[in-house]
Amino acid sequence: MPFIHMDKLKIEGGRPLRGEVEVSGAKNAALPILCASLLVADALELSGVPQLHDVATTVGLLGRLGAVVERDAHSVRVDASRVDSVEAPYELVKTMRASILVLGPLLARFGEARVSLPGGCAIGQRPVDQHLKGLQAMGAQIAIEHGYVVARAGRLRGARIVTDMVTVTGTENLMMAATLADGETVIENAAREPEVTDLAAALVAMGACIDGAGTDRIVVHGVPRLHGGRHRVMPDRIEAGTFLCAVAAAGGDVLLRGAAPATMDATLDKLREAGARIDCGDDTVRLRMSRRPRAVDVRTAPYPAFATDMQAQFMAMNCVAEGTGVVTETIFENRFMHVLELQRLGADVVVEGNTAVVRGVPRLSGARVMATDLRASAGLVIAGLVADGETTVDRIYHLDRGYERMETRLQALGARVERIDGRDPARGQGEGVLAVETEEAAR
Ligand code: UD1
Repeated sequence: MPFIHMDKLKIEGGRPLRGEVEVSGAKNAALPILCASLLVADALELSGVPQLHDVATTVGLLGRLGAVVERDAHSVRVDASRVDSVEAPYELVKTMRASILVLGPLLARFGEARVSLPGGCAIGQRPVDQHLKGLQAMGAQIAIEHGYVVARAGRLRGARIVTDMVTVTGTENLMMAATLADGETVIENAAREPEVTDLAAALVAMGACIDGAGTDRIVVHGVPRLHGGRHRVMPDRIEAGTFLCAVAAAGGDVLLRGAAPATMDATLDKLREAGARIDCGDDTVRLRMSRRPRAVDVRTAPYPAFATDMQAQFMAMNCVAEGTGVVTETIFENRFMHVLELQRLGADVVVEGNTAVVRGVPRLSGARVMATDLRASAGLVIAGLVADGETTVDRIYHLDRGYERMETRLQALGARVERIDGRDPARGQGEGVLAVETEEAAR
């Protein structure tokens, strides 16, 4: 289990960002690919795995199931040959919804799985009905018992599945399950996110037969078994976009290395519209910003449109922009929780349903704010970087779920950012013990 803490970030705003950042491997690709290791009685060797809480949670879950996991910096080797449990318990699933990604692989390889239903989530309902519907179409018997999804099947059968909406982890779960099914599976209305394509590449390296990943129609030809393999996790387009948004808001000149600009079109277009000068190489992005940003309208939608995981960061930039930006969230129904916190910093934001109208103000003023979810915390950090005076972002365990050492990387760009250890009574008001319970409530 990852260590639970109540650290804070203290940010002294108002400095431009200059320098270079190495982009991490993508969290949302690493998590499904780690789960894919359960499909084989052989070793999967991964590089580019980011050091994040969500990765630690997934590794903990794989270990609980009986897999042997070795980690060395950004390399992970998973040997799932001796898996002896098919149960993903509530304590793990409730802290990370992506745990549902073990359902497809366990069911496909062992013919059964028990995975806790994730339950509520801060940013919206997030049901898993599409995952279940697809597995049922492949012949699985599924029941909900005592809060758990209990799935059973002989060998899964290939099927034609049309999901009701575009779902990223739903597509991934079904694609993984289909690799070992008898016959051909067609997933229509599939998610086209680059992380789905990266998972497909990892599965193909393990002997799977998959066509169409990256389009809305994925065809999987089931094989009797897969084998071990190697894969390098793709660069994190959301982490990269977050750094770029920070520079666009705070001003400066930053070069991202090890990025995948080809996966970032919607973000880069909006940053250009905001007035940033952007130059891309194959795996580099340089962003220069020497003016106050212009407000931009964004509307979240499935890839290749503007990502919901970039919404809070663009809202933060809009808060200090020239003009008015309209932010429309179409993926999650409750993903504006950062608005109240941004208002504490002096932002002018009005929310009406799934739309937020952001009138840019010349300055924000530093204050104490609280992170409510992963990307909301990234938005608050960006706001803190441009606010006058000192901003303290509480509950940055949310940030640590998806960003590796955010503060040291911002420091390297010249930002004044400091982590305050929430367990240190002298500096963090001794909130460490209370932290565990408070955090459970917060999730
Ligand atoms: C993934 C990403 C998350 C991102 C989101 C949308 C991972 C680990 N997480 O989450 O960072 O914000 O995609 O890009 O990759 N839905 C249903 N029924 C289902 C499945 C989904 O109604 O069975 C709904 C959800 O409530 C949501 C929408 O479909 O409104 C999209 O959700 P989905 O793409 O499934 O998000 P995740 O895969 O959970």
